[in-house]
Amino acid sequence: MLLITLIFVWIILILAFLLFVYLFLHLFVELFFTLFKKYAPFVPTVTLIYRQEFEELFKFLESLNLENKKFVDLGSGDGVVVKKFAEKGYPSYGIEGNPFLFFLSKLGIKNKNAFFIRSDFFKEDLRNFGIVYVYQLTSINQKLLPKLQEELKSGSIIIAHKFPFFESEQIKLIKKINGNTLLIYQKL
Ligand SMILES: C[S@@+](CC[C@H](N)C(=O)[O-])C[C@H]1O[C@@H](n2cnc3c(N)ncnc32)[C@H](O)[C@@H]1O
Repeated sequence: MLLITLIFVWIILILAFLLFVYLFLHLFVELFFTLFKKYAPFVPTVTLIYRQEFEELFKFLESLNLENKKFVDLGSGDGVVVKKFAEKGYPSYGIEGNPFLFFLSKLGIKNKNAFFIRSDFFKEDLRNFGIVYVYQLTSINQKLLPKLQEELKSGSIIIAHKFPFFESEQIKLIKKINGNTLLIYQKL
């Protein structure tokens, strides 16, 4: 009986230690990137809560008959949105600068359509993507706008979660799903 209790206590201690290491790494790397690289903090899109909104989004995208269906999430966090698009059959890419989140997103990839790149999205060429997902702060969206205007082909779609873009001559809001939950823009 004593031996079983000891083994049980050891298992609990090891699990607590692993949890501590995980949380420490997560917080430490996150703080570094937020403070020194001025990244938006990691907050995932809660696709489970917004299931209906995403279903509406996928129906809308289908109705657009997009020529280039290659999807990219700029700042893909733990990869939840990339995996959702991959499940729907889109060749889906995530660009994430935080190495810890990049590692997490690569864990348990079940879909051969999901790919992850560890990089700063400002440095990546976006010319090949037809659908771009952005969950960043409005200030970062505004910095991104000239890059999107220059690199995306006409007809490409930009989906902003919660934080809008200011429209421009070339980027127009074409649909809103549940307020600011999903804002869909098109490059003219
Ligand atoms: C609000 S989270 C969104 C995560 C994911 N897109 C989602 O919707 O679940 C923003 C993410 O962008 C990443 N990020 C911010 N600036 C970045 C940059 N310049 N290059 C790459 N990743 C960046 C952060 O590390 C963070 O994971």
